[in-house]
Amino acid sequence: MKNGEDTMERLKGKVALITGGGGGIGAKTARLFVSEGARVVLADLQESVLKPLVQEIGDAASYVVTDVTDEGQMKRAVDVAVERHGRLDVLFANAGTEGRVTPLVDYSLADFQRVINVNVVGVFLGLKHAIPVMQKQGGGSIIITSSIAGLKGSAGLSAYVTSKHGLVGLMRSAVLEVGNTGVRINTIHPSPIETRMMRSIEDGASPGHGDTAKQQFAASIPAGRYGTPSEVAHTALFLASDDSRFCTGGRYSVDGGMSAR
Ligand SMILES: NC(=O)c1ccc[n+]([C@@H]2O[C@H](COP(=O)([O-])OP(=O)(O)OC[C@H]3O[C@@H](n4cnc5c(N)ncnc54)[C@H](O)[C@@H]3O)[C@@H](O)[C@H]2O)c1
Repeated sequence: MKNGEDTMERLKGKVALITGGGGGIGAKTARLFVSEGARVVLADLQESVLKPLVQEIGDAASYVVTDVTDEGQMKRAVDVAVERHGRLDVLFANAGTEGRVTPLVDYSLADFQRVINVNVVGVFLGLKHAIPVMQKQGGGSIIITSSIAGLKGSAGLSAYVTSKHGLVGLMRSAVLEVGNTGVRINTIHPSPIETRMMRSIEDGASPGHGDTAKQQFAASIPAGRYGTPSEVAHTALFLASDDSRFCTGGRYSVDGGMSAR
């Protein structure tokens, strides 16, 4: 037992690169993956967040400061994982930004493009550079963090919703290209989860009354509450592990029933 989790070493010997590894979902997933025997490399923007996090997780974790929108930096993150550990089994393409909560007609072009750049272009670059490495090894698992916003619309979040729908198309096209090479690619679709990102969306939806917005969002989830980063991390664990060896091209909801609406 480590970190209070039951561990079955489901990722023993595997190497995972986690983008957005300094954020709520990424950091929790890093801890879970390490507790299951993986070595992880965390890629995120700020060294001041990454450094203490890997120190806390221990020797199996390291970081590489990365802006996923920069092709050279994203390629370097993949290369660093391979240089440090000799292989790359899992890419958790998880970095994302919520953008502004604003009606479409008021959304600035620059703000819209920034969201697409991080959430779609950043994931494209991850796939572009991780897939050849995994193909050479004979396989690997790529898990893309989409969202309930990749399956449903949401007023005020047009850029975010567009980007998260786009990831489903990216995933499906990539699977048709590499499905016979042992590389598996799936998307996960969380409902609101207890992280910084939801605090930002709550405040954007109801400035100064984020708590009220939170209650309304939670009420739209059949389970009646937000999910936790741990609940998302366990979905990623299933897809990273060999338990999901025949799963590719799928969309995995972790949403307390929200997508049933
Ligand atoms: N929290 C939720 O309710 C929720 C729901 C569905 C999907 N998601 C998705 O889950 C993923 C993780 O979000 P989170 O909830 O942990 O939020 P978070 O804000 O805590 O984490 C996001 C991380 O991505 C990093 N990031 C942003 N731009 C980057 C860039 N250009 N290069 C590298 N890293 C960058 C941030 O620094 C941050 O650490 C995101 O893709 C998000 O869209 C979150």
